[in-house]
Amino acid sequence: MIKATAPGKIILFGEHAVVYGRPAIAVPVSQVRATATVVPGEGGVRLVAPDLGLQLLLEEAPEEEALAAAVRQVQRAAGLTNLPDLTITVYSDIPIASGLGSGAAITAAVVRALAKYLRRFDLSSDDRVSALTYEVEKFYHGTPSGIDNSVVAFEQPIYFVRRQPQNLVETFSVTTPLRLLIGDTGLRSSTKAAVMDVRRQWEASPTTFETLFDGCGRITDMARAAIAAGNVTAIGRLMDENHALLQAMTVSSAELNRLVAAARHSGALGAKLSGAGRGGNMIALVTAETETIVRDALMAAGARSVLATVIQ
Ligand code: PMV
Repeated sequence: MIKATAPGKIILFGEHAVVYGRPAIAVPVSQVRATATVVPGEGGVRLVAPDLGLQLLLEEAPEEEALAAAVRQVQRAAGLTNLPDLTITVYSDIPIASGLGSGAAITAAVVRALAKYLRRFDLSSDDRVSALTYEVEKFYHGTPSGIDNSVVAFEQPIYFVRRQPQNLVETFSVTTPLRLLIGDTGLRSSTKAAVMDVRRQWEASPTTFETLFDGCGRITDMARAAIAAGNVTAIGRLMDENHALLQAMTVSSAELNRLVAAARHSGALGAKLSGAGRGGNMIALVTAETETIVRDALMAAGARSVLATVIQ
């Protein structure tokens, strides 16, 4: 049996603006993961996702089916007309449609496991897993920046800039561990819809939105320096500033704002929505001393769940 896994992720700084070429920072959330296994099978390529009650044959899968799309990407990249008979099983404990990158992680796990099973180690490198995952993400998100597939494939903090002919993906390490709480509004949100809505507004008010994007880019660069210096107070303040710009882009919501306010009032160093917004998750930067009180405040303010993670 061949097995591969990929982590969840959050965007620390620069979501939405990253679609327009500004830098963003994303980090893996390693305690929630997608796992794919590949074993020899019979009667074709069988795709199984027990959590979703899904079981189907590749040849019968519709074009837009996510697992099938991941398998077909690998098949195409490997130049194979036919795949051997096999069964691919997928598990994930990453909450879906909440900004934790569940789709990208599932795809990355399937791509890596299948490439290894086929002994195509040229396709199972972080770089290639990221690129193949991007092709599948495009299918769902229209114009994904490429940040999600990069962070789940590399499983390291990344500083990311979307650009031609090749995105800039710099992995970096965090000197002072960042203790984060991820508060889930419980509201699912469509990344594609939020990204399209920002695009509509950018087209209607280009100057305003370019200024907002520039602000996010500057915040991301200052945050990178603050992370390198281990200056958690500055990181928190920059999270607050980034949230204000995301509010101006109309991608926050009453629920997200309530959780962000609750985190700040209970002692978080900073808080912001994370990812596409509207629903999904917010993140709060805390210390060992404030973690419990902020978590309680988030739950009292209506968070569906709170996940604690330490980025290091
Ligand atoms: O997948 P999410 O919800 O973390 O959002 C992706 C981040 C966006 O910047 C909004 C879109 C993108 O493709 O980068």
